[in-house]
Amino acid sequence: MRRVEIVEGPTVEKKADVAHLSAESAEKVLSFHQSFPMYRETPLRNLKGLAEQLGLGELHVKDESLRFGLNAFKVLGGSYAIGNYIAGRLGLDMSEVSYEKLVSAETREKTGEITFVTATDGNHGRGVAWTANQLKQKSVVYMPRGSSPERLDNIRAEGADGSITELNYDDTVRYANAQAGKNGWVVVQDTAWEGYEAIPGWIMRGYGTMALEAYRQIEKRPTHIFLQAGVGSMAAAVAGFFADVYSDSKPIIAIVEPHEADCFYRTTKANDGMLHFVAGEMRTIMAGLACGEPCTTAWPFLESYADFFISCPDDVTVNGMRLLGKPSRDDPRVISGESGAVTTGLVAEIMRDLQLADVREKLRLGPDSVALCFSTEGDTDKQSYRKIVG
Ligand SMILES: Cc1ncc(COP(=O)(O)O)c(C=O)c1O
Repeated sequence: MRRVEIVEGPTVEKKADVAHLSAESAEKVLSFHQSFPMYRETPLRNLKGLAEQLGLGELHVKDESLRFGLNAFKVLGGSYAIGNYIAGRLGLDMSEVSYEKLVSAETREKTGEITFVTATDGNHGRGVAWTANQLKQKSVVYMPRGSSPERLDNIRAEGADGSITELNYDDTVRYANAQAGKNGWVVVQDTAWEGYEAIPGWIMRGYGTMALEAYRQIEKRPTHIFLQAGVGSMAAAVAGFFADVYSDSKPIIAIVEPHEADCFYRTTKANDGMLHFVAGEMRTIMAGLACGEPCTTAWPFLESYADFFISCPDDVTVNGMRLLGKPSRDDPRVISGESGAVTTGLVAEIMRDLQLADVREKLRLGPDSVALCFSTEGDTDKQSYRKIVG
């Protein structure tokens, strides 16, 4: 296996309908998030120095470390899904639901006590726990074996009953679902499977806020968008959004995964009409991307709108974390965690490594390119971040 493996996206005759992830939909999601007192648009950093060093036209990185004080983009999905769930319980349309309404004593009285449950490598669970806490509701959060104790502490700090299981990520999802069945809890999972599609659909839609902000912030049309994938919901949401807004001039979209959990890369490579899973231990430092089973509702968007699928090793993100955390020249600093920095690290490696000239050519990356990456988390494991970046 090469350090960086790339495969072209499949040819799809009937592309997935992006209505659910369109600009119009994202506007509504953004209004919901804007009703939160802690809402601030996260910055889009224009890394002029790095772009010049790499021989790119422009390189922009959306810095999600500043999202709601939670250090990652994930809360956008969990909060929007819980908002929708409560709207359903109250018989309201989502346009009638605001932060104030959700956290009101009246809403709490009408819904009674609810326990939200989820499985997470950290960020999604923190977002769900945070939202439940804001609503004065309960949450139970399960994490896979080997999860960072610091990420568990952050989840518990939001009042959740959090624990680390002996299972891998995908089995932890099944465990959370089984516990919900036994206890009458509401599953808020950021991945879908047959028969469980509404809540993950809202979560995916919730990420539209991040995509819409980036679209408004970037001045030139991006020629390339690099999106990291765990279960693929985030990548599907952003790809769907940009496919809608740019329709005929859609940027080249590349999906990036760690070697150890590259289920989309494998699925695309096999190209046999089936989803391909990665099972067992997924030893990657990119904890947020250590998911071996694709989200079933994300795949139709990725196969329709992603042009390339790339699998890469951990040191690509290590390099990305350092490039972003200790910028040279006058570039702003972006504190980017293991799952956040992989796309920037990958762009740098593709531009610098002569052995990856074919990858660069396939992607048509060069001095006229305007690349957009999403640093989806900050230093969510501070100890690890310090060790890597210093
Ligand atoms: C920081 C970060 N980036 C990206 C992702 C990937 O999102 P998805 O699982 O929707 O593909 C995750 C997932 O947890 C994450 O925590």
